[in-house]
Amino acid sequence: MKLFVDTGDIEEVRQAAEWGVLDGVTTNPTLIAKSGKGFKETVVAMCKLLPEGTVSAEVVATDYDTMLKEALEIASWHENIVVKVPLIPPGIRLVSTLTERDIRTNVTLVFTVSQALLAAKAGATYISNFVGRVDDISDEGMKAVAETVAMVENYGFESEVLVASVRHPVHVVQAVSAGAHISTMPFKVLQMLFNHPLTDSGLKRFLDDWNSAGLKILS
Ligand code: G3P
Repeated sequence: MKLFVDTGDIEEVRQAAEWGVLDGVTTNPTLIAKSGKGFKETVVAMCKLLPEGTVSAEVVATDYDTMLKEALEIASWHENIVVKVPLIPPGIRLVSTLTERDIRTNVTLVFTVSQALLAAKAGATYISNFVGRVDDISDEGMKAVAETVAMVENYGFESEVLVASVRHPVHVVQAVSAGAHISTMPFKVLQMLFNHPLTDSGLKRFLDDWNSAGLKILS
């Protein structure tokens, strides 16, 4: 499964990229607004930090013509950009147009398999299925992820199912079980994937024993 960081913060991308396990970045208008920096400069800087990955950057218009102009503008900034498009009728029309032009898309705000079907048929590169926001209203967000993965596999769609609105490591574990292709998560959650108390106590014991014996690797 690919790991993406969901952020508008260039520094977080820099740190996560250093680990060598980061496959991409997702942003959204809220995260970009929170960053206090310009949209283009943020997204281009992220692309440069992750030359092998993709950076999803979202259009903000809601009518087809303006969405298309925004999408072409965003896509022209860097070859690693994937245009993020909300799942509304002009958005699906836009995804079909961009697919014809070989421009990659990430369809966002997807909550059900019926919405995901529209995104897959339009040729979405990524289908962003939100889980946390569904859990927040006392439903089970991950259910639609499993159904969407099955739909994509059964019908041979090329779209990758991207689990978004991830709030904690259990969501990541559930995304793995559901067979999702990608999980995107806040940097804080990415850091939490490292955590285990037995790793910390085990390392402490190894190092205490090593140091007590006065051993060295480097002279
Ligand atoms: O980028 C979309 C998504 O990951 C947002 O997450 O936590 O605002 O529901 P959240």
